[in-house]
Amino acid sequence: MKVGFVGWRGMVGSVLMQRMREERDFDNIEAVFFTTSQAGQAGPDVGQGSSPLADANDLSALSACDAILTCQGGDYTEAVYGPLRQSGWQGYWIDAASTLRMADDALIVLDPINRSAIDRGIETGLKTFVGGNCTVSLMLLGLHGLFAEDLIEWVSPMTYQAASGAGAKNMRELMSQMRAMGTVAQPLLDDPASAILDLDRRVADFIRSDDYPAEQFGVPLAGSLIPWIDKAMASGQSKEEWKAQVEANKILATGERIIPIDGLCVRIGAMRCHAQALTIKLRRDVDLTTIEQLIGNANEWVSLVPNDKESSVSQMTPAAVTGTLAIPVGRIRKLAMGPEYISAFTVGDQLLWGAAEPLRRMLAIVKG
Ligand code: HSE
Repeated sequence: MKVGFVGWRGMVGSVLMQRMREERDFDNIEAVFFTTSQAGQAGPDVGQGSSPLADANDLSALSACDAILTCQGGDYTEAVYGPLRQSGWQGYWIDAASTLRMADDALIVLDPINRSAIDRGIETGLKTFVGGNCTVSLMLLGLHGLFAEDLIEWVSPMTYQAASGAGAKNMRELMSQMRAMGTVAQPLLDDPASAILDLDRRVADFIRSDDYPAEQFGVPLAGSLIPWIDKAMASGQSKEEWKAQVEANKILATGERIIPIDGLCVRIGAMRCHAQALTIKLRRDVDLTTIEQLIGNANEWVSLVPNDKESSVSQMTPAAVTGTLAIPVGRIRKLAMGPEYISAFTVGDQLLWGAAEPLRRMLAIVKG
């Protein structure tokens, strides 16, 4: 199988390449690396020797591939996908960008959740497969056991999203903000006799000043947070908030019986792990032990974190989870609103399960 890779050098693309090497996914495909800017230069060697990079805007070069996996972003998909399909190309298009997610002839892929829909799609000639929004994929994996038993009436996810979701430049900016704050605070930090309110004032003045680096985010993230992600929708939701219900229901194939999923999305100063605090209304009163067993046994990546302080603060944080495929879920308890209402908290790596992993798994499925 000849597989074309576009956008493999960017952040999600690099994570994808790393995972594919780890899993030896290149062993039985012929990989063709495309570029939007450096055609002809030497491509990477993934065990097949290096070949010149192909032009990602050359429809005939793309058409020669049985599958194309792109992490190049929405503008590229917008420009190339339509013309490529119109030219008659019938290969598999596997995409990280959101552009085609809600299209009728595209499936959002998260195979631990919707493998049977993927298999059915392939059997019936579906050729376009798109990775889901990161918070949606991480929530569905975390609550897999409850969705699988159709126990969820609605969910309100309140998110704590890392800088990586906004892009590589934003991750760098977060670190620059932290460094700048450290520099400003240093003289007072180094003096044990300094007054805490002097330190606080110096930092607060700096965060509000023009010297604070905020070109990418537009406003401070380090030492603060940003209670809005992506564009505004007419509903009053941010686009990130809007995606939760539409994408999750599409992945779950709920059809007419929509499960309401709505909450607020907030950017916080973590590097690449998104966390979510979930308020869940169950369809009926289910005892906590059953809930914990359903959640903890649903798939091989989810782990149940006991609802105690030591386990929660050590196992269920961006610091603990970053760079891994683990999806810890904890803080599960009944809420004061009634026996059908429960809380949960979960964390996942936004670049792995949130972006690259569903795509490399989808490629492995079409490869057969
Ligand atoms: N939109 C997400 C975020 C990342 O900004 O965190 C991509 O799904």
